Amino acid sequence: MADEDRKNRANASENWRPDTVLAHAGLSPKTFHGFVNPPVVRASTVLFENADAMLSRRGIRYPYGLMNTPTIEALTTALTALEGKDAAGTVLVPSGLAAVTLAILVGSRPGKTVLVPDNSYAPTRRFCDETLPDYGAKAVYYDPLIGGGIVQHLDGASVLVLEAPGSHTFEMPDMPPMIAAAKAAGVITMIDNTWATPLIYRPIEHGIDLAVYAGTKYQGGHSDLMIGSITAGASIWPALKRLHLNFGLQAGTEEIWLTLRGLRTMSVRLERHERSALQIAEWLRGRPEVTRILHPALPDDPGHAIWKRDFGRSTGLFGFVLKGSEDQAKAFLNALKIFGLGFSWGGFESLAVMSELKQSRTVRPWTEGPIIRLHVGLEDVADLVEDLERGFAAMAAA
Ligand SMILES: Cc1ncc(COP(=O)(O)O)c(C=O)c1O
Repeated sequence: MADEDRKNRANASENWRPDTVLAHAGLSPKTFHGFVNPPVVRASTVLFENADAMLSRRGIRYPYGLMNTPTIEALTTALTALEGKDAAGTVLVPSGLAAVTLAILVGSRPGKTVLVPDNSYAPTRRFCDETLPDYGAKAVYYDPLIGGGIVQHLDGASVLVLEAPGSHTFEMPDMPPMIAAAKAAGVITMIDNTWATPLIYRPIEHGIDLAVYAGTKYQGGHSDLMIGSITAGASIWPALKRLHLNFGLQAGTEEIWLTLRGLRTMSVRLERHERSALQIAEWLRGRPEVTRILHPALPDDPGHAIWKRDFGRSTGLFGFVLKGSEDQAKAFLNALKIFGLGFSWGGFESLAVMSELKQSRTVRPWTEGPIIRLHVGLEDVADLVEDLERGFAAMAAA
């Protein structure tokens, strides 16, 4: 009965729209005496009924706590369902960075290159520079606006990394020709899709092999956990599953459970993040201290047409270029009372950072002024605007 319940729900989810998937995917109340949510199953050992079952492990859903528990299964089922019917499965890891690096390793081969956008998340770049060479692979950084021109780098490549929009500078890559060229060349594609979430862009439906997320951000949504996930298309799923198993990776049970809780409200939170961020971006546009806003949903952003074609919606993270010195940017940040100064994003609370791009752009070095990156949280926009006004006043006095 429990299995039937699970199967029925999994099948039904193929036809559900994303908000319904968010509310129900991965739940299996009949398995847990009718309780809506799965329990936090803390487990290493699972006892087998007899020696034959133990030796063959055939048909055993939960052979060992590392591989699967009802809590792990609830989240992996939900995350796979969110990516649409072409998604074959999901693995969980202890952080978003671990998800990025594991996905890169799935496709890396000695003597081959990994193509990485120049505007990727800085620790992705650090991994590529410091760790990949030890395994015989080498990163080649490409201009994120290269589009179909990526063909010039595909010879000798085994992985194409995508990130949209780019970390801190928010450029939108023209992905369809890149994905098509990589596919034709037999190069594995992966995307860090943390900004958009599968509610805005479903990578596997667009032909990308691996959809990577820092669930630490919007899936968790409350700044109280670290988790990463990779969802794979059918052809790469067996290799991903095997590598995940062989590394002995898994996310913590508590974090998995909290991510399931966060997931149920992700859509309503994102709507609010999006609306508030756009209001603040519009307000910033009128400020004399701002050179330009880095937000692809704004009509005058250089990536707007691509954003409109591929995404059409946005979330709470964007940047703006300050007309001023780094010291003035620091004075701006130091005056903020609601925007916290801290890393990460995607939680309920607003955050601000000064982007550090000096070391992390080699193809297109950043030559404009300091960038302030905002994560717009769920607070009242009027209070956030007052906070930013405080920052500008301090900047003027600095
Ligand atoms: C775009 C992007 N990808 C991946 C990560 C890494 O996530 P985590 O902090 O869970 O390791 C971050 C974190 O800020 C990020 O901004």
